[in-house]
Amino acid sequence: MVLRLVFLGPPGAGKGTIAQRLCDSRELVQISTGDLLREEAAKGTELGNKVKAIMESGAYVDDSLVSELVENKLRELGEKGFILDGFPRTGEQAEMLEGILNKLGLKLNAAIDIEAGDQTIVERLSGRRSCRQCGKIYHVKNIPPKKEGKCDVCGGELFQRDDDKPDVVKTRLETYREKTAPLIDYYKGKGLLKVIDADGEIGENMANVETELEGIENA
Ligand code: AP5
Repeated sequence: MVLRLVFLGPPGAGKGTIAQRLCDSRELVQISTGDLLREEAAKGTELGNKVKAIMESGAYVDDSLVSELVENKLRELGEKGFILDGFPRTGEQAEMLEGILNKLGLKLNAAIDIEAGDQTIVERLSGRRSCRQCGKIYHVKNIPPKKEGKCDVCGGELFQRDDDKPDVVKTRLETYREKTAPLIDYYKGKGLLKVIDADGEIGENMANVETELEGIENA
């Protein structure tokens, strides 16, 4: 069965980590709007600089710009399964996604809400490191690389994201609660919502996600 999933959940809950592991174990492609926007920001164009400033403030980037990036990616994927990691994040984006999927003749199987408490989130984000080359996510204590500062997969340099500073994390959490948390009810109403408690260790989180996915596949 080809799975088409949305990942919801607060910043730092572990969406990206779980998505990367699922893509390694199953034939799925991760579409992270955070990664797509960081690529855009790194171009140093007028648009890129605007995107960078918004991301560093903890606010959300314009709905139509993000939707356009997602639509382009989904068109490239064709019939492959995917995880939309961090999209949609507003009611407008959820409507735009419906429109895109309708145009492409695709249907979502589930929206998985990955939840973790505020204390866990702050601890996870303060120790997060990401690979500059391949994007693999680590944590200095919880999920460390074999060699400090280097990616296990490609040897790339690990860096700390600018938006992981404590004051920006606070704004990101507020933005999430105001704009994205309402989507939990939106997907519940569509009968697509699955909730994962991701406060525990990563092996346990993966086992819980796998159980939900098997439930979808066997339904
Ligand atoms: P984005 O990059 O998507 O950030 P986010 O949603 O805030 O989520 P994060 O990437 O911070 O966290 P995550 O849940 O993926 O956690 P991770 O797996 O890394 O977006 C950044 C910005 O881009 C937004 O603020 C916005 O400006 C813009 N943007 C993006 N999408 C947009 C959209 N659709 N519309 C508008 N604007 C948009 O894990 C965190 C840490 O915890 C890691 O160090 C990891 O190793 C560790 N960890 C994970 N799981 C565990 C575990 N079980 N135990 C211990 N440690 C763990």
